[in-house]
Amino acid sequence: MSDTISLPGGNARFGSNSGQPMTRRDGVLKVTGAATFAADNHPDGMLYAVTANATISRGRVTSLNVEAAKAHPGVVEVITPANRPPLAITPEAKPYPFAFNIEVLQDDTVRYAGQEIAMVVAETLEAATEGARLLAPTYEAETARVGFDDVDSFDPDAVGVGAPPVAEKGDIDAGLAKAVNRISASYETPAQYHNAMEPHAMVAQWDGDRVTLDTPNQALVMSTGAFGAWFGIPPENVTIRSPFLGGGFGSKAIVFGGQVLTVLAAKMLGRPVKYALRRDQMYGPVGHRGATRQAFRMGMDAEGKLTALEHLTTSTTSTFEDFIEPASNASHDLYASPALSSRHKAARLDIGTPGPMRAPGEASGSAALESAIDEAALAAGLDPLEFRLRNYAETAPMSDKPYSAKALRECYAQGAEKFGWSKRPMQPRQMKDDAGRLVGWGMGTALFPAPMFQAKAKATLRADGSALVETAGADMGQGAWTALHQIAADGLGLDIAQVEFHSGHSGLPDGGIAGGSGHTATAGSALHAAGKDAIAKLTELAVNDEASPLFGAGNIGVTARDGRLHRADDPSRSESYGEILARAGVSELGGEGQGARDPSSAEEYAMFSHGAVFAEVKVDPELCQIRVSRLVGAFAAGRIINPRLAASQLYGGMIWGIGFALLEEAVHDRRSGRIMNANLAEYHVPVNADVPPMDVILVDEDDRYVNALGIKGVGEIGITGTVGAIANAIWHATGVRVRKFPIGIEALL
Ligand code: MOS
Repeated sequence: MSDTISLPGGNARFGSNSGQPMTRRDGVLKVTGAATFAADNHPDGMLYAVTANATISRGRVTSLNVEAAKAHPGVVEVITPANRPPLAITPEAKPYPFAFNIEVLQDDTVRYAGQEIAMVVAETLEAATEGARLLAPTYEAETARVGFDDVDSFDPDAVGVGAPPVAEKGDIDAGLAKAVNRISASYETPAQYHNAMEPHAMVAQWDGDRVTLDTPNQALVMSTGAFGAWFGIPPENVTIRSPFLGGGFGSKAIVFGGQVLTVLAAKMLGRPVKYALRRDQMYGPVGHRGATRQAFRMGMDAEGKLTALEHLTTSTTSTFEDFIEPASNASHDLYASPALSSRHKAARLDIGTPGPMRAPGEASGSAALESAIDEAALAAGLDPLEFRLRNYAETAPMSDKPYSAKALRECYAQGAEKFGWSKRPMQPRQMKDDAGRLVGWGMGTALFPAPMFQAKAKATLRADGSALVETAGADMGQGAWTALHQIAADGLGLDIAQVEFHSGHSGLPDGGIAGGSGHTATAGSALHAAGKDAIAKLTELAVNDEASPLFGAGNIGVTARDGRLHRADDPSRSESYGEILARAGVSELGGEGQGARDPSSAEEYAMFSHGAVFAEVKVDPELCQIRVSRLVGAFAAGRIINPRLAASQLYGGMIWGIGFALLEEAVHDRRSGRIMNANLAEYHVPVNADVPPMDVILVDEDDRYVNALGIKGVGEIGITGTVGAIANAIWHATGVRVRKFPIGIEALL
């Protein structure tokens, strides 16, 4: 690994920690059980909360046997709409950007199956569980509406509901009219659930008008504002501790009603309260990926160039909140077409509110888009890779902005080479393995935006030459803190071993949101800048000190590396940080930094990570069993801070793509509206046996505009591209085009 890189505006030294394939810094704590997750906390006097959850999906709770529950030994209180103390604001108020309407026992209405309808608080988990069972609710149920065909869909813009923006350019009908070949196809994706290993949990303890919350959270400081608003206290009176998360995938970026209720219960009872969701309670109250129906129309000219691309998504949302899966966004910025249209509609069902789930929009959108592109390539008589190259967007198709960097061509080339794509026969059902199984090859393009949010960080140089860096970021388990730690150490010109890293606590500088694949870029920029700021102050001390070998080097320049400042013109003249601080009589020197997108580059450039995924599947010709037998993904995502962890994120995303393509689906009982497979035994995700040999190629990409460090994100893009690649490989193996996910045996019979 090279230990210097060139940065925009010169050859600033980046440092030697970034680029190293370090293992997770918190790995040992986790595998030895020393890491404490939210639900591992047991403050003195703590009570346990268990909720009763609705078993109908629409109607009213007509009775709860509160007396029976309260009579059970150990039960301390039963909280229902009848005695729930008020919050400082209504459940419909949205006190922060990610807030949803929350379910907090505000009335007896049941809006979805799984909704919390009462909370029992007891001295033990067992007593609370039994108390919740004794409530034996009765209902007045109305007909459940849980499928697309149960309701009319609506146009959000027409009724003033917030939705992904309509994006249109050119004339679709005219483009289709002049096309030589056309396709029109509709795809369906199901509701999927986050299923983080660690279910949501909250341990709340009040001290006067201050509250401390142990809870896994992807947006720590922002959430203090939300809890402050709900409870009528200043944000600084709310402390959130979230040192470790067992997965989040977006569902821990939002605060849901059960977590708020727990804080309310602790306040009401004057004792700490813990609430940890059971696995089945994760299906409804804490978000999911909404189901979609996606309709495409595409036209191609004689050369196979798109003349029109239309993508209309209808997605499911709840009756009380407006989250609409932005799946059509996948078609904004990927393929060049003179006419483009991406729009969204929604259908209100008796379901919990969907929310962002790993690669929101693009995961479902690209599953459908990349399948449709495969159909278009076939209609145009072109190899699917050749078709994508003919429609390669040199500038962002909707906005016409140049890309900040786009190494997608290299992704296609390197992925195809590794996979052996050039040997692919055009027609389906041409290849078999030794066991007589049909073999098919498919591909998909991966795309995800490269956003930045806002973050702050602090760096403190200490007298002994070591340093402390601080930012309130979240690590969902993927190794974000390790990458951030590497960047921070480079900002300081220190080895990572000399830098202490503090995070996961809302009292630290706001590290922004761990989401949107923007956390490393945002919090990393803040940490790097904080280190640079501390070094700038240290440089001031040295160059103005006659006793320093760096005296007078201010204009010449000074570089920081290996814990020493060096004269730029003569690196042999150097001094250690500790020596400079000691002579100045300074015990600690602090720096501050911010991370955010430069508004002018945001205005000028379209910023995305890209990739190309190639899949091989094998299908048993008689049983129609489908196995993914090989996956190759090549991704360009700017500067890779830690190739081991970045690759691991991409493997994980691609494995999720296998789940999306073949396994994952929440199935509703049509009568009750309940999810029938609300458990990990029946809600299928890929297990080791489902995961084939995989290759991830990290394609070089020097992005000079995305941020000063050139960092994009890798957290979500792996799912995109993969789903379509697998679906297209299934078509290539069998000749059957399946337009409904997940693709199971029954679709091929
Ligand atoms: Mo993610 S769905 O941006 O946590």
